[in-house]
Amino acid sequence: MQTSPAAAPPSTRTAREPELRAQGQAQGREASTIPPIIQVIDLQKTYQTARGTLNLFQHLNLQVEAGEMVAIVGQSGAGKSTLLHILGALDAPSAGKVYCASIDVASLSPREAAAFRNREIGYVWQFHYLLPEFTALENVAMPLLARGKSKTGVPSDGSRSLGWKREALQVAANWLREVGLEDRSDHRPGELSGGEQQRVALARALVNNPRLLLADEPTGDLDETTAGRVFDLIERLHASHGLTSILVTHNLDLAARCTRALRLESGRLAPLAYTPQTEPTAAPI
Ligand SMILES: Nc1ncnc2c1ncn2[C@@H]1O[C@H](COP(=O)(O)OP(=O)(O)OP(=O)(O)O)[C@@H](O)[C@H]1O
Ligand SMILES: [Mg+2]
Repeated sequence: MQTSPAAAPPSTRTAREPELRAQGQAQGREASTIPPIIQVIDLQKTYQTARGTLNLFQHLNLQVEAGEMVAIVGQSGAGKSTLLHILGALDAPSAGKVYCASIDVASLSPREAAAFRNREIGYVWQFHYLLPEFTALENVAMPLLARGKSKTGVPSDGSRSLGWKREALQVAANWLREVGLEDRSDHRPGELSGGEQQRVALARALVNNPRLLLADEPTGDLDETTAGRVFDLIERLHASHGLTSILVTHNLDLAARCTRALRLESGRLAPLAYTPQTEPTAAPI
């Protein structure tokens, strides 16, 4: 496992500071002395297809500070989901560096990557992917049960096993209350509305107290009113749990509510100039 330049010895960090400041300013951020929680440097992703090589990113750079809520918009096929997958160690870069929570994600073994995802990242997708045969409560508790430990680190073996499972379910119940669904805890996903399913998915994403929330079109499958309510909830959870959030969305009104909105176009990210009711344009860097 390797750590980020920001966590490297002072001489290395000093050498990189002008480059990192320039990246941040190019993306509409103020310069900061605190290490960014996400740092992408010259990212490239290449797919070999029957039609030849597909270069998805053109030396893409991104810095995200702790506490930011960043929206990413872009046309279908621009690479938004691929970028989130790479940030969250679900996919590997073809070239370049990706540091997430100061970890070089490409340097992780599959086992380390799984532990990293469970510890640091909460994912929410357009479709909730809840397990249909389990209740809302069990679905939310699943990451804790999969981790095999209680929140306090009690291992999942021996005579204490009942205790940690009960504790996991209690933590899950607290999260269901936080997303306003304590009275739906014994419902299976098929017995929940679309908005409720997505709120359960949010609770499940955050039950391990990750630092990062990566959401890929989390409101894309919902009607406008429900989408607004789910986004309200994401905003509230982002603030109350000190999250850093990256949200992919096609909804420009929701993107405008984030602390920063970027457009992925031609393999690069640029600040989004937003005017309600009009088509977005990439602002000059
Ligand atoms: N495993 C793969 N092999 C080859 N091409 C791929 C692979 N995965 C994705 N692609 C291509 O990469 C491009 C980006 O895909 P991605 O899913 O990241 O787009 P997106 O911006 O999320 O689009 P959407 O808004 O439709 O979800 C697409 O053109 C897709 O066909
Ligand atoms: Mg996508």
